[in-house]
Amino acid sequence: MQSDTSKLVILGTGGTIAGTAASAQDHIGYRAAQLGVDELLAALPPLRGQPIETEQVAQLDSKDMDTAAWQRLARRCDWHLGRADVAGLVVTHGTDTLEETAYLLHRVLQADKPVVLTAAMRPASALLSDGAQNLLDACSVARCAGARGVLAVIGARLFAGAELRKQHCYRLDAFASGEAGPLGVIEQGALRRWRDWPDAAALGLEVLAAEPAAWPWVEIVTSHAGSDARLIDALRDAGVQGIVVAGVGNGHVHQLLDAALQRARAAGVQVVVTTRCAEGVVVGAADAYGALSPVQARVELLLSLLRTRCARA
Ligand code: SIN
Repeated sequence: MQSDTSKLVILGTGGTIAGTAASAQDHIGYRAAQLGVDELLAALPPLRGQPIETEQVAQLDSKDMDTAAWQRLARRCDWHLGRADVAGLVVTHGTDTLEETAYLLHRVLQADKPVVLTAAMRPASALLSDGAQNLLDACSVARCAGARGVLAVIGARLFAGAELRKQHCYRLDAFASGEAGPLGVIEQGALRRWRDWPDAAALGLEVLAAEPAAWPWVEIVTSHAGSDARLIDALRDAGVQGIVVAGVGNGHVHQLLDAALQRARAAGVQVVVTTRCAEGVVVGAADAYGALSPVQARVELLLSLLRTRCARA
């Protein structure tokens, strides 16, 4: 499966995989994004001597992921993907917003080589940390012949980036991909794959060209028992450009929110409906985005607004 003749590039962005705690037993009271990607690599003897380059693109706790870091990461991925000597990319990232970054990269990159995101649930300082194995597995997948698309490797499973969802706040196997299921598993460095590599859905990087601070403002609002319409009205009055509603069940929305969303639409706000259910597709709604989670639908709406702006420019 593996060929070491071509280079891998590992792009570091921070996260728990690069986190440290004062005690090796501490899985909670740690600080994310403390070690550089070079240090992560240096701690992995099996990768020594392999043709691997590293680049620190960001160093943050992914709860603080922002548009500037997304723009820079997408640009650096695109640049390295264009290099003839590079077989594939690995991106180390925090788990907390991994599904959003994976979806964004899936939508913008022409990834005819693999871009493998990986992460960890325990800090690098933990006695039994998961990050080292995840990074090794991600490198194995990035070297697989024929691999392509934006992918994620965590807990020995391979996911399509666009289908990734964080499902658990603590367990090592915190990720899933709903009804679609993983693409495969990594066993002793070898990939056993059940489904095809994901198709690229590349919009191209131009869609992210605007100054990050000027990207459209898109919020997520959850429909719930006792929902209050004032939140939607306040967002509309404050100039929000897009609202993703995490509806109940099949994307249903509380009647008070629904009325406020009509007012928002009338004022030019783009509204998209998703479900707060962990699995399933919103069926039969014209303003739904298929099986996307609310946070991924937010990325999709953001890209749609950016495209509209590009088309007008
Ligand atoms: C982060 O998302 O950066 C911190 C949490 C994690 O990686 O699990």
